[in-house]
Amino acid sequence: MIQQNLSDDSIGKALRLALSQEIIREEDTAVIFYDLDFLESRIRYLASCFPQNTLHGLAIKANPLSRIMEFVKNIAPNIGVEAASIGEVTMALRAGFRPGQVVFDSPVKTVADIRFALAKGIHLNVDNLSELERVNKALAGSCTPTTSVGLRINPQVGMGTILESSVAGEYSKFGVPVKNGREGLELAFLTHPWLTGVHLHVGSQGCAMQMLTDGIGVLYDFVLEMNEQRIKLGFPLISVFDIGGGLPIAYDRGTQPPSMKEYVEKIAQRAPQLFNPDAFRLITEFGRWSYTNSGWTASRVEYVKRDAAINTAMIHVGADLFVRECLNPRDWHHEYSVFDKNGLLKSGNDTHPYNLAGPLCFSGDIIAKNVVLPVIEEGDFLVIHDTGGYTFSMWSRYNSRQTPGIIGYRDDRFEVLKERETLEELYRFWE
Ligand SMILES: Cc1ncc(COP(=O)(O)O)c(C=O)c1O
Repeated sequence: MIQQNLSDDSIGKALRLALSQEIIREEDTAVIFYDLDFLESRIRYLASCFPQNTLHGLAIKANPLSRIMEFVKNIAPNIGVEAASIGEVTMALRAGFRPGQVVFDSPVKTVADIRFALAKGIHLNVDNLSELERVNKALAGSCTPTTSVGLRINPQVGMGTILESSVAGEYSKFGVPVKNGREGLELAFLTHPWLTGVHLHVGSQGCAMQMLTDGIGVLYDFVLEMNEQRIKLGFPLISVFDIGGGLPIAYDRGTQPPSMKEYVEKIAQRAPQLFNPDAFRLITEFGRWSYTNSGWTASRVEYVKRDAAINTAMIHVGADLFVRECLNPRDWHHEYSVFDKNGLLKSGNDTHPYNLAGPLCFSGDIIAKNVVLPVIEEGDFLVIHDTGGYTFSMWSRYNSRQTPGIIGYRDDRFEVLKERETLEELYRFWE
């Protein structure tokens, strides 16, 4: 079993220590924390669930912090990254990942992006057939790429509960659809000997384990069929199978998230050859599962407004850090705890619930509504749980708030992962 969430006890301990060591200073209106031991244990567990030759491309879009990339890179040799843009590719290389540990997915790769990836030896997942032709042209003359190339296929297994992060419906802007694009797919694999990989990603959060496994099953059947024909053509077999990410995590303490181990067992039942290292190399792209539960955010409560039916706690992070939570609260939410100014956990329930309102200049800047919480007072810390993924990576510059300091810790040792933004750096952004 793997620990799913950080407890109030362990967060409170770190908060008190950070206050006593002045890691949280007066000007730190909000701070993002990472429990690095917890993060490491999750990634070690992920690696232990899959065959050793798997490349785990942790999705950079979930957490692009350089210090975090450097940290996860050293956990195991088969830890890599999935990059969604040429910017993420270059950040990964700068963080010290070898080209062979980087997986480049983007639906809008330019000719220059493609040439760069091929020249470096970065695994490329081609999004569509027009891109495939660009790769073909880029390879002209050299014939065999120095890296593996895969094609993204939409398995068309349906939508999860969160429409905006589901990408395997009948229509998707990503990949080539397996049913209505079948003819083009077959032609692609039977005319390009160097095309030895497939890639899918069904969706992020919102997709049940069965749906994810079904998607893999659809591609597996397709690959076995193609490989039978590729043998006859004397082509190398399709041997790189990128299953994407998407396994949901628990944001609610009361729910049990799907288990990674069980997911792997289900994949092995449906697609057993994928676990034969002589036949396949798996790639995974888990972002949310890897990062989110290891991070939490503490914001000072600046003011509390008390109305007849509702209280409003005015805090220092809103839609700048929690864009999805503010704009789509039906699908995205967190758990919250209240600590006093000394870092002691508050208990009990106030008579009225709270709206947790951010600092930005629009009425939708409320990260959660009607939350039952202990009595909140000015100067308390509101802790937002599970903010290690898809929060800071989505930072919005609206209203020009300084980005919070980001701190990692192991036991009682703290390290600054990113300093709080200075006003000078803020000016420079807009110059
Ligand atoms: C292609 C691709 N791979 C991986 C991921 C990561 O998904 P998750 O963070 O849910 O594991 C995403 C997320 O949107 C994605 O689009």
